[in-house]
Amino acid sequence: MAITVHPVTSTFVAEVCDVDLSKPLPAEDLAAIKSAFWKYAVLIFPGQELTQQQHLDFGRQFGRVESGRIVDNTQQKSRFGNEFSDVSNLDAEGRIWEADSRQREYKAANRLWHTDSSFRFTPGMCSLLYARSIPPVGGQTEFTDERAAYDALDAATRARLAELIGEHCLATSRRLGGFSRFTDEEYQRAERVPQLLVRTVPESGRKTLYLAAHVGGIYDMPEKESAGLLQQLMAHATQRQFVHSHRWREKDLVMWDNRCTMHRGMEYDDLRWARDMRRVTIADAGNSCELAGVKLPARYLAAVAAAVVGKTTAPTAEY
Ligand code: OGA
Ligand code: MN
Repeated sequence: MAITVHPVTSTFVAEVCDVDLSKPLPAEDLAAIKSAFWKYAVLIFPGQELTQQQHLDFGRQFGRVESGRIVDNTQQKSRFGNEFSDVSNLDAEGRIWEADSRQREYKAANRLWHTDSSFRFTPGMCSLLYARSIPPVGGQTEFTDERAAYDALDAATRARLAELIGEHCLATSRRLGGFSRFTDEEYQRAERVPQLLVRTVPESGRKTLYLAAHVGGIYDMPEKESAGLLQQLMAHATQRQFVHSHRWREKDLVMWDNRCTMHRGMEYDDLRWARDMRRVTIADAGNSCELAGVKLPARYLAAVAAAVVGKTTAPTAEY
């Protein structure tokens, strides 16, 4: 039986059924999934029974898997190896974390609107998050459609945003999320990575905002002005009409296009319920400025050089 695609909203989220992602997919099923993905940007695959390997294998059909997620060696070791982000509230032994654990404080920033890995020079293209266990109350993930948000901007704002470059940095969102344990050295080491504020998704040709809590400034714009603009855009892009809230079921695999969506995790009683979620992230084809042919200002060349030699630019784990 061929896969079936059921719109959850008319333009943003769809559920994909009659497919078993643990097995190699017939070419026509993969093509149908891709075409639904470019159209909707968030796909839900319910009832999937996946090993880590099968999760990775499915992800690989969309591009290169991001790896090297742990570079801050004071952090807890990943339960799953460096091709996975552990998005759960569990420690290395699989027990619910302690109230004052570093991981808990570190992952609190997942509750801010963001897109994955935009603080890397080559950002995340898509993410595939798999739910092994979920809390009975709370813990939804919200998604917002930044293409629809872009479409709703007036012409003057669109003209103002064209070719503006946002500066993305993991330390920015961590600080905003209340993480207080970076050393000054770690903050200084954290690279500001350039990404366009408005980009085009090649497969659909649609323009989209590209925002995140990681963005701390805009190239060549005074801080006061950029802070105001970013705040205004964030408020615009996260209005309810652009947002879908996903209530998880066990064994859901949800994939989203990081180039044109933001997401955030919602509260739950994380000291009481285990929420065991793991994520595979697929890297984009390149930096968003480079892909659009926008010349990088000289100030970012250090970030480019770091990316070229494969050095990560900041503590990049788990986000
Ligand atoms: C993620 C993420 C939010 C959540 O996996 O990238 O931000 O609801 N998750 O767990
Ligand atoms: Mn995320």
